[in-house]
Formats: sequence, C-alpha cells, structure tokens
Amino acid sequence: MPFTPNRKFKQAPRLIVGSEGLYYDLADGRRVLDAIAGLWCVNAGHRNPRISAAMKAQIDVLDYASNFQIGHPGAFELAERLAQMAPAGMDHVFFTNSGSESVDTALKIAVAYHRARGDAGRYRLIGRERAYHGVGFGGISVGGIGRQRSTFGPLLNGVDHLPHTLDLARNAFSRGEPAHGIEKADALEALLTLHDASTVAAVIVEPVAGSTGVLPPPRGYLKRLREICDKHGVLLIFDEVITGFGRLGANFAADLFGVVPDIITTAKGLTNGAVPMGAVLMRGAVHDAFMQGSVSAVELSHGYTYSGHPLACAAAMATLDAYLQDGLIAQAGALSPYFEECLHALRGLPGVADVRNVGLLAGIELQPWAAGPGTHAQAVAQHCLDAGVLVRSVGDTIALSPPFTLERKHIDQIVDSLRAAIAQTAQATDVAA
Ligand SMILES: Cc1ncc(COP(=O)(O)O)c(C=O)c1O
Repeated sequence: MPFTPNRKFKQAPRLIVGSEGLYYDLADGRRVLDAIAGLWCVNAGHRNPRISAAMKAQIDVLDYASNFQIGHPGAFELAERLAQMAPAGMDHVFFTNSGSESVDTALKIAVAYHRARGDAGRYRLIGRERAYHGVGFGGISVGGIGRQRSTFGPLLNGVDHLPHTLDLARNAFSRGEPAHGIEKADALEALLTLHDASTVAAVIVEPVAGSTGVLPPPRGYLKRLREICDKHGVLLIFDEVITGFGRLGANFAADLFGVVPDIITTAKGLTNGAVPMGAVLMRGAVHDAFMQGSVSAVELSHGYTYSGHPLACAAAMATLDAYLQDGLIAQAGALSPYFEECLHALRGLPGVADVRNVGLLAGIELQPWAAGPGTHAQAVAQHCLDAGVLVRSVGDTIALSPPFTLERKHIDQIVDSLRAAIAQTAQATDVAA
C-alpha cells in the first residue's frame, strides 16, 4: 500500500465501500464526514452528479484514443477551458495522469525550454526543504523530505534547495499569509550566486506546501521569488497539485497571491479525483520556444499513453463546470472566513502548537509526543475517525481540506470533533505521564 504502515494496516484494515457528497461509507457500516476531500482532491464532493453523468456518457462514445500523432477533440476543448481559467498568459497545456507526472513533466519542459532557446547550460533545478512534489525521481530530487530522498538515492544531479518557510517562533497562529519570512526568498539569490545563475533552469515551489503540514507563504515571499527569477532568466514553477482549482478560494494560488509563474503543475482537483489526470499549464512563451527552436519534428520528446485520456477529459470538463458554473470555487472562498474563525478557536487547547490556514486548507500543528514523531497527530486523527470525521495526519499536523460543498454546520462538526480528540489525547498523555 502507498505511504502506509502495511503490517499495521493488515492487522486492522480501514476500508471505504461507498461515497456520497461529503461522506464516506466504511465497511463496518459507519458513515463519516470526509474533511480531507479524499486526498485533497474531491473538491466538488463525492459522486458529484455532473461528473458521474459526463463520465458515463463519454464511456459509451469513445473509450480511448491515443494522443500520439493523432488526437481527439476532448483534449483540445479541455486545454482551451484550462487556458481560460488559468492566470492570463498561461495558455498552453500538457496532459499527464498524476501530480508526480505533472512535476516531472514540468521539470523536463523547463530544462528543454532553455535548450530550445540555445541555452543548454541551464540544467540545475532548485526546490525547497519540506516540499512534496510527488514520487518520480525528478519530484523527490527537488522535494524536501529527507526520508523520501535518502531511501532512493542517488537522485538528480544539479539540484539544490531553498530553506522552508515555517517559523513558529514568529508566525504561530497566523491567519493566511504569515507576516514574517519574506527574507527567506533571498536565499534564492545566494543559491544563484553559488551555482552561477546561468546554469539554473528553474525553481519549483508549492505556493502553500501541503503534505508537510500546510505552510502558507510569508507575505511578499512568492513575489520576491518571481522578481529574482526574472532578474536571472530562471523559470518559476508553482506546484498547484493541491492549491489549484479553488482550494484557496481562487482558481489558482497564483491568482490569490497575485504572482504568475511560468509553469503550473496540477492534478487532483482537475477531475475531482474521479479518474486520474494531471495537467501542466505554461505561459505561451514557454510553448513558443519549442515551436520556434526545436531541431526535431517532434518538439517535445515526452508523453504518456494516457495523456489526455477521453474519460479523464470528460470528467475534467464536468468538474470545471461544477467549480465555475455551479459556483463552488466562489462558495469555497465565501466559507473560508468562517473556517478560519472556527479553527483558530482551537488555540490555547493543550498541545496545540499552531493553527495555519488559507482558503479551505488548514493545518493544526500539535506538540510532538515522546513516543515519536507523528504519534500525537495520529492519535487525534484516530479519535476524530471514531467520532465520525476523517482528517489526515501529516507528521504532527492535522491537515484539513474539505470538499467545497460543505456548510457551516459541517465545519462546526469537524472542529467539535477535533476539540474533543485534542482533549482526549491530552488526558492520555497525562495518564501516561
Ligand atoms: C504539491 C504536490 N505535488 C505533487 C503531488 C503528487 O501527486 P500524485 O500523488 O498524484 O502523483 C502531490 C500529492 O499530494 C502534491 O501535494
């Protein structure tokens, strides 16, 4: 099983057998509120009727079409829709099947872009500590999670990392972007000096790091990264696999923070999780460099058998309808202040070290237990599940990323279950002590 303690799981399997709207049905007959949208992806709610209908209709018309040297209209229509939805100027798209594939595709496009422009000396990639960019060799190389890197080395050559931006001493319990830490972006200047900027192809960051505990960017940080990249001709990639498609209450994090990168990686919410799909969005200038500079008839030697799969395209078109026509992204934005208010009420409870949030994305960091990293958050998550609410523990942080279709009463239920779980686990440590 992926990222799972397999031996422990098999002693006490947790199985999901059905879903509807905000809820999962478990094999033991219980119905639980899904406060993590599957795995940060089911933004429009489970078995969203629009998406199910579109997939059912598609499968009876065209099951599969290769996009190698032939194509089908659905992929082009979806690319058009994405370009309309993306920040201005990001008007070309390459389809993948996952976030990991989107990341590796984006890194390859960045390196090949410079080469197509006659600047083949730019090969280095810069990621960030505490970044999660999926599990491809490119993704774990620019990723910043020690264990995931050390297990599989040697990794890509020519990769370095910015410092992460979490700063509990100065920024604990910030609402939205924390006030302190813009200077962490200046580390990019230092890395570019160290490695010689003319050897660097791209910088990749999650605008809000998700899987390492929900880390919103310090105020002004992303803008400064953009300025430094511009100054040195380095491409800026935003990994929006979690933040894209309305999670922050805007179409993309790039929109919310007012910083447009050169490339955006997406997946997850693109199809509401109903079928695997990812997409890499890029500025016209990135695409055009290949069309003008390629020495080969095939401008980009890259692609997947299932790039632009018809079923995934149909699901994505319907998902975008749900986000935009049914107003779900606007709904996420409108609910965010209440979500923030309720979560910050957890401040002061025993063992709560921080609450961080942007849009409908939040992390509640707990003080680590002597029993080991992650044990505190795992215990809280288990209590929540026992009480009928599915949350996710990432390290010692509880991550929340609910479907946009939830209402205030559901936010109350999530926060009440967290409050009770935090109280129960605090007693457990008292007893242990
Ligand atoms: C920011 C980010 N990038 C990439 C990925 C990898 O996506 P996938 O699991 O679809 O390969 C994830 C998954 O959580 C992610 O959060």
